[in-house]
Amino acid sequence: MKILLTNNDLNEALYDVSNLGFVPTMGSLHKGHISLIKKSLKECKRTIVSIFVNPTQFNNKNDFINYPRSNNKDLLILKKLKIDFLYMPRVKDIYYLKRKSSIKLREKDKILCAKVRKGHFEGVIDVIKRLTKLIKPYKVYFGEKDFQQLYLIKKYIPKKRDIKIISCKTIRDNNKLAFSSRNKLLSKNELIKARKITKQLFLLKKRLSKSKNINQLIFKKKNELINLFNIRFDYIELRNIFNLRTSNKVKNSKLFIAYYINKVRLIDNF
Ligand code: PAJ
Repeated sequence: MKILLTNNDLNEALYDVSNLGFVPTMGSLHKGHISLIKKSLKECKRTIVSIFVNPTQFNNKNDFINYPRSNNKDLLILKKLKIDFLYMPRVKDIYYLKRKSSIKLREKDKILCAKVRKGHFEGVIDVIKRLTKLIKPYKVYFGEKDFQQLYLIKKYIPKKRDIKIISCKTIRDNNKLAFSSRNKLLSKNELIKARKITKQLFLLKKRLSKSKNINQLIFKKKNELINLFNIRFDYIELRNIFNLRTSNKVKNSKLFIAYYINKVRLIDNF
């Protein structure tokens, strides 16, 4: 595994590489990331992983500072997986041109996380544009865990770039809780809570398919979870998977949730 720390390193290492799979991450790697990397290793001749905690996608400075980082552990994981390249750029390697994102989300896309985390997806789409311009991959891998991110990247990355966006299933632990770097910020008790909440939400999704009054059922469960677990919801909404419009039928829809356990914000979809 070659470690590339600057854009010079990157250009030198990649100049004659084709059929390159790219897995962008913010590090603190877990089984979710690993599944994306394994898919790339299987499908592409070469695989590059990036670790870059992108400052522009954090709408809250403390969230950026507290974001979990574990470079040494990540390095061991990536070496074991036998990826070809690890790109760990400095902020100035990515933002050598102006830092402000030129991305403007359309009004109809300002929903779910885009509504509550102002500027977040503008930062995400912009950094993916910058990274893919530098790396020029054939395929880029994203997880369905961050379904709205995947949806918006497909929509806003220019088609002329000719990059294949590959979506990958959400990986969960034995208790069905989705792996997430942010889980590392949870205490043991909070982790148990997150697992119980996840179980409840899977159950809710199942019940929705038999229910005539979907919105009422979601509303009831939301209040029940607030009272039981003392959590705060940003949203819990059923939406169509193709256009993310609110939906009142389960077919082709997913339940999207974002909630806080104390200060830790978790998102998932079912
Ligand atoms: P990060 O949260 O590190 O996630 C990197 C990739 O791993 C994303 O595509 C995410 O959807 C995927 N992922 C995370 N948890 C997963 C799980 N449990 N199962 C499957 N895939 C999972 O998402 C980001 O970083 C950043 O926004 C980034 C795209 C790198 C831009 O900065």
